[in-house]
Amino acid sequence: MPYLMGLDISTTGAKALIIDETGAVIAVANTPQPISQPQPLWSEQNPSDWWEGISASIRRALAESGLSGEDISAIGLTGQMHGLVLLDGDGEVLRPSILWNDQRTGAQCDAMTARIGGRRLIELTGNPAVTGFTAPKILWVRDNEPAVYAQAKQVLLPKDYIRYKLTDAYATDLAGAAGTSLLNVAERAWSAEVLDALEIPAEWLPPVHEGTQVTSTISAAGAAATGLKAGTPVVGGGGDQAAGAVGMGCVAPDKIGVTVGTSGVVFAPLSNYAYESEGRLHAFCHALPDTWHFMGVMLSAAGSLQWYKDSFAPDIDFDSLLAEADRVPAGCEGLFFLPYLTGERTPHPDPLARGAFVGMTTRHGRGHMTRAVLEGVAFGLKDSFTLIDQAGLPEDYEVRISGGGAKSPVWQGIIADVLAAPLININTTEGGAFGAAILASVAAHLYDDVASACEAMIETGEQVAVGANAAVYAERYEIYRALYPALKGIFAEL
Ligand code: XUL
Repeated sequence: MPYLMGLDISTTGAKALIIDETGAVIAVANTPQPISQPQPLWSEQNPSDWWEGISASIRRALAESGLSGEDISAIGLTGQMHGLVLLDGDGEVLRPSILWNDQRTGAQCDAMTARIGGRRLIELTGNPAVTGFTAPKILWVRDNEPAVYAQAKQVLLPKDYIRYKLTDAYATDLAGAAGTSLLNVAERAWSAEVLDALEIPAEWLPPVHEGTQVTSTISAAGAAATGLKAGTPVVGGGGDQAAGAVGMGCVAPDKIGVTVGTSGVVFAPLSNYAYESEGRLHAFCHALPDTWHFMGVMLSAAGSLQWYKDSFAPDIDFDSLLAEADRVPAGCEGLFFLPYLTGERTPHPDPLARGAFVGMTTRHGRGHMTRAVLEGVAFGLKDSFTLIDQAGLPEDYEVRISGGGAKSPVWQGIIADVLAAPLININTTEGGAFGAAILASVAAHLYDDVASACEAMIETGEQVAVGANAAVYAERYEIYRALYPALKGIFAEL
């Protein structure tokens, strides 16, 4: 029986997953990862921690499964997007990696926009300059750490540093590359125009590959560190969102993915490149050939509920808290929650946006506040959905939902009603690692293409129908939409 491995270098852990050709999970091992915030708004990790972590996880997953490296037919990589790893000419790491959630590059984003032109940047790269993306991080190092910059010879994304340690090759995948702001997303190639304008040497960037393409094979050193077999093929894989979407079977425009984790993501595959004219949605390459996607990202989805529970209801379990919310009428008798606790990306790219409860009266109690949080997050997802709808949803589509935060039937019911779309649960808890292993299955010739691999390996679960509250929510949504513009100036002052 052939087996596949998916490796996920996420912000919180380095995970190795083994599945068989039917998609059944055989073993999973995760090594938690430390993160450092050396200054306010900064966020960094050491690539050596990822390498130690993933080597340990690979060894544990193999041991747990009773398999040896020989049994693994192919490996797929995924991980946190946008992070900057800078190497010198000997492949040594020059400084800690600056991560996707680091907000230090405001000035560099302004400089990029001025150099390239805001509209042209969106047209070429699918996105405006975003503080979390890779290109402004390179410019930040040039502006602030010239001695480091002078030694730089290679730029990699986090998961591609692990590819380099495993296979001794510099390479990346197109979904990840699209999150750098340096890719011509329509042409699926590095953009000479952007690189020239920013004066970033093209030779610092690795070759780009489709998610199912073999980039390189496990080296002798990679095998010695992990227990994998030298020569095992490693595929391009994908950034965590694209690989996660593959793991949900969202590989064609008729399947929209909603993921409610700490952040909340709405993911819409596209069969042609398109971008939202004001850049309010991300437009990236998908992890399979000839496919792109729109994506809306809200920064605090289940993160909002976790914060709320930790702060105001630490002594009650989630189920009881949500049961209280279920007894409150839809619309919370006039109470709203804005979920911008850590600023926002979609549809308000504003690091200064703040959370708020609006409309509180003496009638409101904890059940109302809990329900307002659930509804506020659902309205935030609807914002992304609305932008995707305006940019062009296909006539027939289904919405698939996954993510730890979305397990509650109360919350799923609210989301279905707010989106006015039935939801189909996907029974995977392994996110991007599962999708990366599916991409590897195509390279291992177990399936002809990603769509047939998804068809065979993904199980769908319970369906959630649209309920009677949809009409109430259609009205409440208009009020929700008016709140951010009304409060924006105050948030900036705060
Ligand atoms: C995607 C994004 C996150 C990170 C970290 O644009 O910023 O998904 O990849 O998970």
